[in-house]
Formats: sequence, C-alpha cells, structure tokens
Amino acid sequence: MPQVYPCVVVLTELYSHVLVEYGAFVGVNIGTDVTNLPSPVEVVAVLKANQISHVRLFDADRGMLNALANTSIEVMVGVTNEEVLGIGQSPSKAAAWVTKNVAAYVPQTNITAIAVGSEVLTTIPNAAPVLVPAMNYIHRALVASNLNFQVKVSSPQSMDVIPKSFPPSTASFNSTWNSTMYQLLQFLESTGSFYMLNAYPYYDYVEGNGLFPIDYALFKTLPKNQQIVDSNTLFQYASMFDAMVDAAFYSMEALNVSGIPVIVTETGWPWLGGGNEPDATVDNAETYNNNLIKRVLNGSGPPSQPQIPISAYIYELFNEDKNPGPISEQHWGVIFTNGSSVYPLSLSTSDGTTVNSSGNGVFCVAKPGADPTALKAGLDWACGQGQANCSAIQDGQPCFEPNDIYNHSSYAFNDYFHRAQSTGGTCNFDGTATTTTANPSHGSCLFAGSSGTGGMIMPSPTAFGPTSPSSKGLVQRTSWTVFLFPAILLAFGQL
Ligand SMILES: *[C@@H]1O[C@H](CO)[C@@H](O)[C@H](O)[C@H]1NC(C)=O
Ligand SMILES: *[C@@H]1O[C@H](CO)[C@@H](O)[C@H](O)[C@H]1NC(C)=O
Ligand SMILES: *[C@@H]1O[C@H](CO)[C@@H](O)[C@H](O)[C@H]1NC(C)=O
Ligand SMILES: *[C@@H]1O[C@H](CO)[C@@H](O)[C@H](O)[C@H]1NC(C)=O
Ligand SMILES: *[C@@H]1O[C@H](CO)[C@@H](O)[C@H](O)[C@H]1NC(C)=O
Ligand SMILES: *[C@@H]1O[C@H](CO)[C@@H](O)[C@H](O)[C@H]1NC(C)=O
Ligand SMILES: *[C@@H]1O[C@H](CO)[C@@H](O)[C@H](O)[C@H]1NC(C)=O
Ligand SMILES: *[C@@H]1O[C@H](CO)[C@@H](O)[C@H](O)[C@H]1NC(C)=O
Ligand SMILES: *[C@@H]1O[C@H](CO)[C@@H](O)[C@H](O)[C@H]1NC(C)=O
Ligand SMILES: *[C@@H]1O[C@H](CO)[C@@H](O)[C@H](O)[C@H]1NC(C)=O
Repeated sequence: MPQVYPCVVVLTELYSHVLVEYGAFVGVNIGTDVTNLPSPVEVVAVLKANQISHVRLFDADRGMLNALANTSIEVMVGVTNEEVLGIGQSPSKAAAWVTKNVAAYVPQTNITAIAVGSEVLTTIPNAAPVLVPAMNYIHRALVASNLNFQVKVSSPQSMDVIPKSFPPSTASFNSTWNSTMYQLLQFLESTGSFYMLNAYPYYDYVEGNGLFPIDYALFKTLPKNQQIVDSNTLFQYASMFDAMVDAAFYSMEALNVSGIPVIVTETGWPWLGGGNEPDATVDNAETYNNNLIKRVLNGSGPPSQPQIPISAYIYELFNEDKNPGPISEQHWGVIFTNGSSVYPLSLSTSDGTTVNSSGNGVFCVAKPGADPTALKAGLDWACGQGQANCSAIQDGQPCFEPNDIYNHSSYAFNDYFHRAQSTGGTCNFDGTATTTTANPSHGSCLFAGSSGTGGMIMPSPTAFGPTSPSSKGLVQRTSWTVFLFPAILLAFGQL
C-alpha cells in the first residue's frame, strides 16, 4: 500500500469556491476515437467557430494543448486510467506528469483542471486504493509549481457509485467505497476543488423502462399530474439532470460533507441508435442539449443547493465512430469532422465571455440543397442589415463568377459570420447555412477566414448583437440568455 500523502490544507484555496461558483458555463468533451480526426489546429478552428469556451480532453495531447495556446479557451486535461495506477504509487511520476502535461503549457494554454482518471471506481475498482493518493500527488506537484490556485484536481465519477439516486434525498454512495469516497471528499474540500459527475439522463431514462416520462429526461415541462417530487423534501424536480446532481449533493451529505460544488463532466444524448434504441434520435438529442444549455446558463443550482450553479460539459464534440458497442455509442457528437453541425446547437459564450476569434480555417457556407428562395432572403439580409461586405460578388468583381445563388450567398454568409462572430453572430441563416473547414476560395476570390484575410470584427449592428434571420432559431434564444444573464444577476442582487 502506498502511503497516503496527508492533505495540505491551504486556507486560501478554500476561497476558490467563490470563483468556481461565479457563473455557470457549458463546455464540450473532445473524444478522439474518430476516423479522420481533424488536426488539432482544425479542431481549435471548429471550437472557435462555435464559440466554445471550455473543453475537456481525456488525456493531455500535446498537439491539442499547443493548438489551444493563446485562445482563451479553458482546458481540462485528463490523467488516463492507465496512468492512475503508476501515479498513485509514485509522487515522482506525478511530478513528472504535471511538469510534462501542465506546467509546460500554462499560462499560454489555460489549463484550469485535471481529471484524474475517468470513472475509476466503477471501471477499474482495483485501482480505488490509489485514486486519492494519485490526486494528492498531482496536487502536491501543482503546489510545487505554484499552479495549485489556478489548476484544480478532481476525478469524474459515474452515477453508478450512487446505487439508488431517486428520491435524491435518500441517495448515498455505494458503501463499498465509503472510505475512498470519504478521503476523496476531504481532498476536494481542502483543496477548494469540485465533485466531478458524469450524469446521463439518457441511460437512466432508457433503463427506467417507462418509470420516468421522456419529457422529464429532456427538460420539457411536465403536465400537472406528472410532476416529479421528492416526498421527503417536497422538492419538485423539473428535470432528471437536476435530480441526478442533487443525488450527488445528498450522497456527499450522507458522509457529512457539504458545500463542494458539483461540475457535470459528461452529459449528452445520442442522435442515432440501432433498432432497439428508439430514443436515440436527432430530435431528442437536439432537445436535450439545447435545453441543457438553457438550464445551465440560468445559473441556478438544483433544488437542494439553489445557490450553487451547475456547469456542464457536453459529451461530445465529434462522433466517436471507432467506439465499440451499440450504434448509439458512435453518435453522441454535435459536430461532424467537416465542421458542420449535426443539428442546430448554439454553444456560444456560455459564461458570458466571448471567445475572440477570427475563425481562420472555418467557413460559413450555403447548405447543399438549401431552398434558393430562403438563400436569397439570407443573402439580402447579410449584405444589408447584417453589414457583410458584398462588393466582391458584384458584377465584374472576383467572386461574381460563378453567378449562382449558392456561391453568392456562401460568400455573404461567410463574410457576415467572420465579422459578427465575436459579437454573437452565428452561421445559421434560418437553417440554410453550415460551417465547413473546406476553403471555398478560388482564384482571386478570397473568402474571409482564409489565411491571409483578416477576421475583421465589426461592431454589432443591433443592441442585442446580430443573429441570423432565424425566427425559430434557438440561436436567438441563447443570445438572449447570454445578454440577459447579467441583467438577471443584477435583479437578484437588488432583492
Ligand atoms: C502564444 O503567444 C505568445 C505571446 O504572443 C507567443 O510568444 C507564443 O509563441 C504563443 N504560443 C503558441 C503556442 O502559439
Ligand atoms: C484562464 O481562465 C481563468 C478562469 O476563467 C481566467 O480567470 C484567466 O484569466 C484565464 N487565463 C488566461 C491566460 O486566459
Ligand atoms: C456496490 O458496489 C459493489 C462493488 O462494485 C457491488 O458488488 C454492489 O452490488 C454495489 N451495491 C449496490 C447496492 O449497488
Ligand atoms: C458507509 O457509510 C454509511 C453512511 O455513513 C454507513 O451507514 C455504512 O454502514 C458504511 N458502510 C461501511 C461498509 O462502512
Ligand atoms: C455525521 O454526523 C452525524 C452528526 O454529527 C453523526 O451522527 C454521524 O455519525 C456522522 N456520519 C459520518 C459518516 O461521519
Ligand atoms: C432555473 O432553472 C431551474 C430548474 O429548472 C428553475 O427552478 C429556476 O426557476 C430557473 N431560474 C431562473 C432564474 O430562470
Ligand atoms: C459534413 O459531413 C456530414 C456527414 O458526413 C454531411 O452530412 C454534410 O453534408 C457535410 N457538410 C458539408 C458542408 O460538406
Ligand atoms: C480580438 O482580436 C483582434 C484581432 O487579433 C484584436 O484586435 C482585438 O482587440 C481582440 N478583441 C478582444 C476582445 O480581445
Ligand atoms: C470590401 O471588400 C473589398 C474587397 O472585396 C475591399 O476592397 C473593400 O475595402 C471592402 N470594404 C470595406 C468597407 O471593408
Ligand atoms: C459554387 O457553389 C457550388 C454549390 O455550393 C459548389 O459546389 C462549387 O464548388 C462553387 N464553385 C465555386 C467556384 O466556388
């Protein structure tokens, strides 16, 4: 048995909860079991194009960490389960890991968290005795590099460590892990870190076999006769997501630990499944992830901890088509590797900060097959109210030929997108536009975002920031949320 390094209680670290609690964000997991995974530079271009502000890597890939430098995207890196065993038995291995994978990149790459292993207790239970030592050794190495204030250490747990999660008030950790859990929570408390939870309403809904209505899993409003209430607390649960997060809080409380924020390190919904996976649909995935974003950005906690916001990382950026298992396992992605969205989803400016990006390498173009009338409406809007520079598509100018509605609207959409992105403009145009990494420039016709063309940032033409002319677009709703968020906080502050 390795000796457990005693927790270093650094008083000031406790106050970092204040930082963690300030504002919730939505991030994205980047799994890499992907055929033709784009290069790190392309992946980062996709992140910027979608204004993703937080990412989680499952490892500490050098290419990705370099490509993320100087982007202001916050990064969670991972100690893989394979590495946990060694690190948990060797402080010097932990120190070497931190030097190589964290200290070498900060501050240019904004690494703010280390996930030590992934669902270690439930996937490699024999490593349980070394999990907290591994976290301690990593933390000690961060202290030595004076990085412990900016980089937090935790370890994502599956919901399976909580055998019965409903009603939340009676939830507790599987007692097999009592001592590990207790040490883990002590560590999180003393280092000002957070509990990392992987919460998948999709699985609980499917495994519940009709016990819960699907609307509850999808954050939809439930009819009066179907409200989900915890009979002990009389708290009403608007979503399964809230109930899962509360189950984690109550499980910690059962071990007499309170006040540790929960951060959801994985959640999402698959958009395609096999014949026996009827709930894995584009509609459900789109509904779940968009409602999740709205839920998280509203900034409140679950019923038992309304003051602790819940940040969450969507699982996941790309479809991991090389994942084994049922068809749904390969279809959790929200963006195809060519940069276009699987379904409309706005991840922009989750915590109210804008990712500054000229978006070089990503282009906004007319969707193949889009209705020409709708394209024309988008083109007119982009060149007019949208303030795109459409001079290059005028007769005699470099992008006039081919004189086709697809080519002209692509030029205008892309010009608008590159100007307005940083102020909330999106690539949507009522669903007729899509992003791509394929550069549409030809000859002397240069599209904005090609290397060499500047990503000119124009001031926003409307008070709430430009949105594509999409009436039903979630994009608009999210922009509203983003811009209203400070107002909501302000209103609370005045109560
Ligand atoms: C980040 O920016 C700094 C300062 O401009 C520069 O020295 C450094 O090379 C950049 N790092 C990367 C990896 O691009
Ligand atoms: C890194 O992220 C933290 C937390 O959001 C932020 O306070 C800090 O300014 C960021 N650092 C850089 C160099 O962008
Ligand atoms: C607790 O975990 C152990 C070890 O994985 C397992 O055998 C047991 O069934 C679990 N208990 C419950 C109530 O799920
Ligand atoms: C684990 O902790 C719970 C709650 O404190 C307690 O009821 C249970 O007896 C403990 N189980 C073991 C195996 O120590
Ligand atoms: C939690 O605290 C209560 C009251 O102080 C005590 O009775 C109980 O044994 C404690 N449980 C654990 C697991 O420490
Ligand atoms: C935020 O969401 C929670 C859970 O759905 C809800 O109870 C609460 O009223 C919402 N708060 C605001 C300010 O919209
Ligand atoms: C991107 O790839 C997806 C899936 O292969 C495809 O359906 C879509 O049409 C492609 N988008 C573009 C702009 O090529
Ligand atoms: C965004 O980048 C542009 C070009 O690099 C720069 O001029 C501008 O000041 C940046 N804006 C912010 C808010 O960082
Ligand atoms: C518009 O684009 C053209 C090149 O296509 C350029 O010459 C002109 O200066 C641009 N106008 C503005 C206002 O940026
Ligand atoms: C014009 O648009 C079509 C359809 O989007 C595209 O396939 C073609 O490559 C474009 N041509 C040029 C020269 O950009």
